[in-house]
Amino acid sequence: MSSTLDAGLFCADAARSYTLPGSVYIDPAVYEAEKAAVFHKSWIFAGAANALAEPGCYTTVQIAGQNIMVVRGADRRVRAFYNVCSHRAHELLTGSGRTGRIVCPYHAWSYELDGKLRSSKPFAQVAEFDTREFCLKTVRLEEFLGFLFINLDPAARPLAEQAAGLDEDIRKYCREPETLKFAGRLTFDIQANWKNVVDNFQECYHCPGAHPALVQLFDHGVYRTRNFGIASSHIAPGRDDNAAYKFDPGAPGAQTFYGAWLLWPNLTLNVFPGRRNISFMHIMPTGPETTLEHWDFFLEDERPNAEEQAAMDYVKQVLQPEDIGLVESVQRGLHSKGYTQGRFVVNSRLDSFSEHGVHHFQSMWLRAMNGGL
Ligand code: FES
Ligand SMILES: [Fe+2]
Repeated sequence: MSSTLDAGLFCADAARSYTLPGSVYIDPAVYEAEKAAVFHKSWIFAGAANALAEPGCYTTVQIAGQNIMVVRGADRRVRAFYNVCSHRAHELLTGSGRTGRIVCPYHAWSYELDGKLRSSKPFAQVAEFDTREFCLKTVRLEEFLGFLFINLDPAARPLAEQAAGLDEDIRKYCREPETLKFAGRLTFDIQANWKNVVDNFQECYHCPGAHPALVQLFDHGVYRTRNFGIASSHIAPGRDDNAAYKFDPGAPGAQTFYGAWLLWPNLTLNVFPGRRNISFMHIMPTGPETTLEHWDFFLEDERPNAEEQAAMDYVKQVLQPEDIGLVESVQRGLHSKGYTQGRFVVNSRLDSFSEHGVHHFQSMWLRAMNGGL
């Protein structure tokens, strides 16, 4: 690929800009380039800190071809490492669980939870072998809102600085998110480029036509989208007279707003009306035109109550199938010889009919691809 990506008629002014060219959602060379320019330089979601409650608790995360492990050490500190053995590159940990030491399944090299390689008899006659040279390679890790984020770029700016204002904004609608407990995951395989999925999340212009129950769940008339830093927010007061799921807006401590935030590049944070909750939609590319989506729910209790189960079922059975149908149709359409670049429909009210959030995301993507955000 050339060093500067040709975005055709895309420009900084959303009202004049064309959308990104269809080719960037299809081209394998673009996908290869964005692994380095986007995914290996950005803060990527790695789950809840409280899911790794005890020393030795670990989880693994795939970031566009890179396998990472996140482990709580004996000193209770959480660290991230490349999930690869320093001997001959076997994978070390799979899935999630708890272990006293990290032991390679191939020749049993053994690492402490802080990544140090333990000495072993077979090393004795290896010339100039220094175990310190073969410790696990660390990856940046930060905690944000009580959740873990990792970044393969050692020089990345802190997440709280890049997403200034996001923590405070979310806490207006969800108290103490760090105390919520993991209560379930939905998984979707989507036949679409990951950016196509994010574009769709970033606007509610499609909501009246595509999501008849969702537009009853909040006050569509006062829905607003705001872009700030590497984030966007979509906020509206909730309504209990809706066809999505029932909740009691008068219950003590109930969340009364619908809030959805994009955190660059591929995470959405969602707050639904009802008992205290937050959920994360993690949009992970698995190829130029395929995406794996995890939707993780965090609730006051690991076991959802009836209202919460109804909300989760609504996401699983209605909301996501509605959106996936849209983005998969768009992905097919992006191959059409009858399409090159569209336009953003925007307005100065920044309301639900305005696609300035999509323009914000596409601007960040273009800057990342052309040298960095
Ligand atoms: S590859 Fe891990 S011990 Fe050999
Ligand atoms: Fe949608």
